[in-house]
Amino acid sequence: MTALDDDPGFGVYVHWPFCRSKCPYCDFNSHVREAVDHDRWRRALLRELDHFADQTAGRTVGSIFFGGGTPSLMAPATAAAVIDRAAERWTMVPDVEITLEANPTSVETGTFDGFAAAGVNRVSLGVQALDDSALGFLGRGHSAAEAMSAVAEAARRFERFSFDLIYARPGQTVAQWTAELDQALAHAEGHLSVYQLTIEPGTQFHTLHGRGELGMPDADTQAALFDATQRVLGDAGLPAYEISNHARPGQESRHNLVYWRYGDYAGIGPGAHGRLTRADGSKWATRTHRAPEIWLERVERDGHAEAPREAVSPADRLAEMLMMGLRLTEGVALGRVLAETGCDLHSQVDGDAVGRLVEGGFLTLDRDRLSATAAGRQRLDAVLSTLLA
Ligand SMILES: C[S@@+](CC[C@H](N)C(=O)[O-])C[C@H]1O[C@@H](n2cnc3c(N)ncnc32)[C@H](O)[C@@H]1O
Ligand code: SF4
Repeated sequence: MTALDDDPGFGVYVHWPFCRSKCPYCDFNSHVREAVDHDRWRRALLRELDHFADQTAGRTVGSIFFGGGTPSLMAPATAAAVIDRAAERWTMVPDVEITLEANPTSVETGTFDGFAAAGVNRVSLGVQALDDSALGFLGRGHSAAEAMSAVAEAARRFERFSFDLIYARPGQTVAQWTAELDQALAHAEGHLSVYQLTIEPGTQFHTLHGRGELGMPDADTQAALFDATQRVLGDAGLPAYEISNHARPGQESRHNLVYWRYGDYAGIGPGAHGRLTRADGSKWATRTHRAPEIWLERVERDGHAEAPREAVSPADRLAEMLMMGLRLTEGVALGRVLAETGCDLHSQVDGDAVGRLVEGGFLTLDRDRLSATAAGRQRLDAVLSTLLA
């Protein structure tokens, strides 16, 4: 990773809101539609890109991230047009990271060549599990074998790839999970994302859970699964650089580091969020309309589908910075706190609370930075509520 006090850089996020089917655990802004007018969507994404480019002239793009939804269902020509337009409107770093999230099915891998030709150089595959019955439970349309062949295709066609796994599934033991991680490591290269299953309001799993029909692991089992993840992936040379993200040094997702280091990013497409700093130093939160069809109509009418922009106050800048930065193993650089908020950390947080969290083994504080330990990252919500009380 680059030095902690570096400029976190500027990234561009592009949201593709469609999926083949809706997974029962997922609360992302993703929708199933019979048909999508790809030409119309391409034109609208380009228009909204222009809207944000007009306001961020002179910035240098370090990363573009196509997220979703399932952006591997986009026409590759759409990704190509967005990348080309981004290169026209902004300066790009020579080794710009361009990531595409993809579902590991043969339909998607069939278009990998097109995405690679468009300029995508990193793919993040939603493998989720390496066991067919777990994949069935998660409502996925692929088998473990199909996922592994998609991973092999990604390795062949793109400079870098990562894949996602979901753990802490009902009934999962530490022994089962470590065996699954060992299997994953046989196919991984530089990066893996491992998410603890969370029950999100509005999902099918939330309904089942409410009825008592989903036996989720208890807190001790969840902690043991988290610890096993740190141990197995750390021993294999992919330590956690963020709560759920593991990489060989230098292989971290540069785009996601922009969020976690509290850098600026433009968010394009339905429901995309952004953070933009103006020349006067003020920081602004942007978000676009979530519903795909309304987003499309607004962009066609107004050139963008942004909701009224909100200034982020210094107090909120500190809170957001800690919420993001303490997810990272490297923690938050105190110099960046001063730069973002105009005040040093010590004048803005309760020193006794920090002391208690350090003594309890949840935080470390030195001259340059505040970091959460692995135990702190595992309980980050509780740490943050003590810190920001
Ligand atoms: C936008 S999706 C990834 C791309 C693609 N749509 C897919 O699912 O293959 C982002 C990732 O978030 C994770 N995720 C989504 N909902 C989750 C939940 N409730 N608990 C844990 N992980 C979740 C999954 O691992 C998923 O791959
Ligand atoms: S997990 Fe991925 S494929 Fe499933 S609904 Fe969410 S965004 Fe779509």
